[in-house]
Amino acid sequence: MSKAPLSGRRRYGGTADKGSRPGEESYLPKNTSTAGESADSPDATTGYSPINRLRNVPILEDDLILLRPVKASDADDMFEYGSDIKVVKYLPWGPYRSIEEVREGIEKFFLTRPEQGLPAAYAIVWKQTGKMIGTCDFHSVSEDGNSGGIGFVLNRGFWNQGIITKAAKMLIDMGRRYLGFSKITLDHVPANAAAARIAEKLGFRNLGLREHRFMVGQKTEQMVHHELNLT
Ligand SMILES: CC(C)(COP(=O)(O)OP(=O)(O)OC[C@H]1O[C@@H](n2cnc3c(N)ncnc32)[C@H](O)[C@@H]1OP(=O)(O)O)[C@@H](O)C(=O)NCCC(=O)NCCS
Repeated sequence: MSKAPLSGRRRYGGTADKGSRPGEESYLPKNTSTAGESADSPDATTGYSPINRLRNVPILEDDLILLRPVKASDADDMFEYGSDIKVVKYLPWGPYRSIEEVREGIEKFFLTRPEQGLPAAYAIVWKQTGKMIGTCDFHSVSEDGNSGGIGFVLNRGFWNQGIITKAAKMLIDMGRRYLGFSKITLDHVPANAAAARIAEKLGFRNLGLREHRFMVGQKTEQMVHHELNLT
């Protein structure tokens, strides 16, 4: 998750509209409207333009959590965890100082994802209360469109209950089936032991330290790089 995308390495460069594989449940969203998308022609078969496909990502859920695109109205909940110094300790952004700053961040860095060629970022919602408790998203996509970089953040009150492991599993499955990814990448600072453990639990391969360039401030940092092959 990020106020700004975690990585400015690459943006989406291929076609996301690869459809589901034979025999698999289709992830096509039901709303096929392309109104207002005249610059971006809909696909003849699916009715989706590439940008609408990125915008209308499927809702993902299990018994406890629901993943749906980040909304402007998430600002208060995002401020709660984004202003927590322990939550943002290993992240390239934050802490947020005001709700206004969060609103601007949502507007600038989350709601514009499809226009940047990236899938809409998912907010994680705790179903029991409807509270937005974090994000789990593809913050970057490789030039060839075959690989997505995953990121996540969670409200500290919900840590260590397996929530991000579950959310990331759902996101990875969506990346494979809806976006047609054959590889998922995950990068974290070396000190972030929880992120390393999640990568391990999800079956990623640890490929060691790599220099990572962030979009915000163009700063670079050595990060542990993990890859998950989906083929
Ligand atoms: C990283 C983060 C998203 C994890 O969310 P979560 O829902 O608590 O993660 P899970 O419960 O699914 O898994 C966490 C695992 O890390 C382990 N863990 C947590 N803190 C740890 C630590 N300091 N050292 C070692 N392992 C740790 C947990 O025990 C758990 O492993 P287990 O299931 O084997 O017990 C959350 O801690 C967070 O928001 N951190 C701040 C933002 C961040 O660092 N994002 C990642 C950027 S790459």
